[in-house]
Amino acid sequence: MNAYDFLGSHYDDLVGDPNASQAWVDWIESAKPGHRFLELGCGSGEITRRLAQTHQVDGLDLSPAMLEAARAKDSEQMVHWIEGDMRDLSALGQYDAIGCFCDSFNYLIEDQEVQDFFHIVADHLVDGGLFLFDSHGTSRLQEFAEDYEEAGTFEDGTQVQWVISTSGDELYQDFAFYLPDGRTIEEHHLQRIYPLETLKSWLESDFEILSVIGDFGEESLENCEKLFLICKKKPKGSQEGEKK
Ligand SMILES: C[S@@+](CC[C@H](N)C(=O)[O-])C[C@H]1O[C@@H](n2cnc3c(N)ncnc32)[C@H](O)[C@@H]1O
Repeated sequence: MNAYDFLGSHYDDLVGDPNASQAWVDWIESAKPGHRFLELGCGSGEITRRLAQTHQVDGLDLSPAMLEAARAKDSEQMVHWIEGDMRDLSALGQYDAIGCFCDSFNYLIEDQEVQDFFHIVADHLVDGGLFLFDSHGTSRLQEFAEDYEEAGTFEDGTQVQWVISTSGDELYQDFAFYLPDGRTIEEHHLQRIYPLETLKSWLESDFEILSVIGDFGEESLENCEKLFLICKKKPKGSQEGEKK
């Protein structure tokens, strides 16, 4: 099964937290993003729908199941939901701000893929437009050096087992779902964790990095679970390597 094919329909039950979603939105709004906003890897749309109260928002995700969950909650059709891969935004236009939140970025696992992604995001921002995203802090590699296990039961009786482990700079999330009808469904998620200095070196040709904080500013950059970055697209012509 692809990542989120099954988890998509239970994602909010597993990790949904309205207070945390609002904290994300407060952080995003503190950067004063412009009106046209694109959220990449928007998942079940908890942040997306909140942003759509005050912005014109497109939400893009690879997973049909996540988008189905997102659409089901958007009865007023505030968001334009798009099924797609954030590594190819060629069908999309220009935005004042682009965001990628809650680990979605860490699903990019190749160096070149990440560097291409940053260029693609920049290409879809107006000059001075903002790119906001988070990435797991490297301390997570130590945190999950020993396997972490969690188990629970959803309202429909499905039981879940969730194991988080690491190897090198990769983080694995392995899920087993035990359905009431006796079926077992497994999902395996692979993410990669990048040092901040590497991210900065890849971002700097297209972006000025305005701010980097750990865990909403509550933790140091060394010990945080997530790095939060706010980047501003450099004006055309000022990008590194481009002829003036
Ligand atoms: C941990 S969830 C986060 C969802 C959402 N941002 C949130 O705040 O809850 C990661 C999401 O990234 C999506 N994703 C992973 N790789 C993607 C890609 N290449 N293009 C678009 N979405 C992707 C997954 O489908 C999933 O919905």
